[in-house]
Amino acid sequence: MKISLVSAEAAELNVDALAIPVATGQRLTGAALDLDRAMGGVLNEMVVNAEFRGRIHEVLPMPAQGKIAARRVILYGLGAPHDLDGQRMRSAHHELVRASRTWGYKRIAVLRSEPLGMDSLKAVVEGCVMGTFERRSRQTGAAPERREIDEVGLAGFGNGREREVMAAQENGEATNRAREWQNAPPNELTPDALAQEATRIAQRHNLEIEVLGPTELKSGGYNLMLGVGAGSAKPPRLIRVRYHGNHQGGASAKTGEPALALIGKGITFDSGGISLKEPDKMSRMKDDMSGAAAALSAIDVIASRKLPLDVMAVVAAAENMPGPSAQRPGDVVVSADGKTVEVVNTDAEGRLVLADALTHALRNHATHLIDLATLTGAATVAIGHAASAATSNDDEFWSLVEHASREAGDRVWRLPMYADYRILLRSQIADLRNSEYGEAGTIMGGMFIAEFAGGKPWAHIDIAASAWNTNDELTTILRGPSGAGTRLCIELAELMAGAER
Ligand code: BES
Ligand code: ZN
Ligand code: MN
Repeated sequence: MKISLVSAEAAELNVDALAIPVATGQRLTGAALDLDRAMGGVLNEMVVNAEFRGRIHEVLPMPAQGKIAARRVILYGLGAPHDLDGQRMRSAHHELVRASRTWGYKRIAVLRSEPLGMDSLKAVVEGCVMGTFERRSRQTGAAPERREIDEVGLAGFGNGREREVMAAQENGEATNRAREWQNAPPNELTPDALAQEATRIAQRHNLEIEVLGPTELKSGGYNLMLGVGAGSAKPPRLIRVRYHGNHQGGASAKTGEPALALIGKGITFDSGGISLKEPDKMSRMKDDMSGAAAALSAIDVIASRKLPLDVMAVVAAAENMPGPSAQRPGDVVVSADGKTVEVVNTDAEGRLVLADALTHALRNHATHLIDLATLTGAATVAIGHAASAATSNDDEFWSLVEHASREAGDRVWRLPMYADYRILLRSQIADLRNSEYGEAGTIMGGMFIAEFAGGKPWAHIDIAASAWNTNDELTTILRGPSGAGTRLCIELAELMAGAER
């Protein structure tokens, strides 16, 4: 899909469909109103008469009847202006593109008018690109329901912004790549397959890559990784892709410049292990590597953009299975940083592999840590699918993450880590236990991981709910895999790199 800025008058745009944004409670203004006049007033009539209300995801195609160069006009809704944040902006354009694909339009244009400001360019482009996403079908002989769009023209967004368009397109495509990985069946996307994807990214940009298998994990003391992977015939992999982007060109450990670690939970299937899940809770667990998908997809963009910042992606890839050599509830395991952990529930495996992954990032001189993980079902209870649930040990770093979240249209909401809860992490026999806290499940997941952050600025993004909307009633939140965390990480790196400059 080619996306370009166009400067012709709206009425002269020779496209299959010209799309006009409408917010609820607002009439057409500016360029949209000019176009309406050319159309003989039918657009505003639909709006004024409330046949088109401008609700988000409302999309209405109308024949242009030769009055303008375009064959169709599409009114598409943005919802109420005060509800319109970056995430809903992307969702609205995602829907616009999906509908256009259903109708078979090959060339469309978006006409910027209120409430879309000049600064909405990025959200518009990212949303449109995300709307091209189609889960790759493994059905034999199935005809695709939607067609592909060849061109999107952006009218009224000014000139000379090609770089912004290109960057936004990359962000959208990176999000879609993460979504495709999320959707991949667990027999295809194994820990080793994840390592191969990481290797491909590293080769593409000539990055340093390291993949630790069982032997290296053992010598490095990564016993939590080994414990989680023990029940599976597919060996675990601790993957590290390193992009050296700092100014001095040398290792940031020596130059004292920051090094950001993007740490992804990469459980390629979570059966729960010996603490086996019930069938209906297990069926979606192929997406338990969504955090890994986001981290890898993000570093791909960060490296291709050559940001002046050191960034590493650390992926803890394993399959959580029951089996004769699986770890048991009651096992005590020595983590890579030396703390002992009582595994009271083998289904709380994410925090275990992440603990070792954080240690690995710190050993490789990370100065700032962000982990992304489908960690707790409780995130769906606390916040639901509309945002990722987060915890952080550092207000300054958190405000950067929050800023990135707004820029990226990738929502996060911070939960508190009360000192009073720390006692719940204690075990009778070990330093920590991995479950059975009784309450505050999402916070406790974060507080467990925080123990392994080595006092460095750290944020934990629990994407258990945001990575995959399973609630069919929530129609304005992308259904299925969302790529949550991908754009957040890209943006965070951009901000940190910018602060450097
Ligand atoms: N991968 C799951 C969390 C999850 C649940 C993700 C639902 C997406 C949807 C995680 O490994 C898990 O099983 N968490 C347990 C933790 C508990 C045992 C402390 C949970 O949420 O029940
Ligand atoms: Zn899991
Ligand atoms: Mn689990």
